[in-house]
Amino acid sequence: MYPENQIIKDARVLTEHFIPSRVGHRDGQISTLRDCLLPITHKKQMRNVFLYGPPGSGKTCLGRYVCEELTAHTPTAAYVYVNVWKHPSRFKILLSVVNALGVVLSVHRKGTPTDELLDALRKKAKDRYVVVILDEIDKAEDANVLYDILETANVGLVLISNEATALHSADQRIRSRLSSAEYIEFYGYKDDELADILKDRAEWGLVPGVVKRSQFDTIAEHANGDARVAIDTLRVAAEIAENADAAKITDAHIQKALPRAAVLSDAKKLEMLNVHQKVLYDVISKRGSVESTVLYQEYERAMRSQKLEPMVERTLRKYMDRLVVSGMVEAKGDGRWRTYAKS
Ligand SMILES: Nc1ncnc2c1ncn2[C@@H]1O[C@H](COP(=O)(O)OP(=O)(O)OP(=O)(O)O)[C@@H](O)[C@H]1O
Ligand SMILES: [Mg+2]
Repeated sequence: MYPENQIIKDARVLTEHFIPSRVGHRDGQISTLRDCLLPITHKKQMRNVFLYGPPGSGKTCLGRYVCEELTAHTPTAAYVYVNVWKHPSRFKILLSVVNALGVVLSVHRKGTPTDELLDALRKKAKDRYVVVILDEIDKAEDANVLYDILETANVGLVLISNEATALHSADQRIRSRLSSAEYIEFYGYKDDELADILKDRAEWGLVPGVVKRSQFDTIAEHANGDARVAIDTLRVAAEIAENADAAKITDAHIQKALPRAAVLSDAKKLEMLNVHQKVLYDVISKRGSVESTVLYQEYERAMRSQKLEPMVERTLRKYMDRLVVSGMVEAKGDGRWRTYAKS
């Protein structure tokens, strides 16, 4: 047998984008979401849904899983998934939606007006129902995009956020249109539930017999209810074992993997930041804690030294609010005396 096949059978199974064929310990949420989508199978309007809960509690996974199931059985339905953190503006969200539906736009995308995108969406939703999943919706720069989509016939929304209150600041027109939405809460997983999720991943992704139940329990105990951290830990442990040319994952491999998986989940958040947010975050990381005025000066210096144009302070404040909402940074005090620190 080749060393690279000793531990990992299918690496894809241990990545974030993999949609599992079995989603355990979420029966209530699955059946509520299915009920919301069910009208589509009778060519009727779905009920809009809002999924909320802590990181790694299965919101993205379950949203996609149930939409996959729906579209697999309903030829007149399609779904699209947009990560709003990656595409935060109204324009980018709509562009991602129509792109995902197969609309190819002319080269000068920047010149494409929003109306044109909405027209394209309307056309695509003419003879089929479109479910739009907007993940990390609290990161949207402009909530009006919700209005755009809610006003389009044959389109429904699955919104996802860590916070139940994500839409409270949206304007009245939007809130009233979403007032009949179903709110589905997700909780952090219990340790034995995480161990079950890991058991499935090991069965699909690893060579049989290379990992044991007690090791799933150890990983689960350190994951704080977060399935992403748990799966990352299993993947890292498997990689360590494979690189060491071991026949099995040992407890020592797991111990080594535990801190690395925690770092990975931070790195994933970093990936989502734009260049300005990265520089701001970098200044805070280096200093530990920093006053806002000093932070903005250091940011400006860093940008200029890279020959990049710095943003105005108002925009920076908005970026800092986002970093705070995402839990990466803590803020203390108000106004000019506000200090920021890494959380
Ligand atoms: N019940 C489950 N069964 C199988 N896999 C799961 C389950 N819940 C979560 N996962 C897996 O755990 C990982 C994290 O889950 P997911 O991305 O859905 O979390 P999330 O709630 O969207 O977190 P965040 O708020 O950080 O985006 C994914 O790889 C997902 O496939
Ligand atoms: Mg998610």
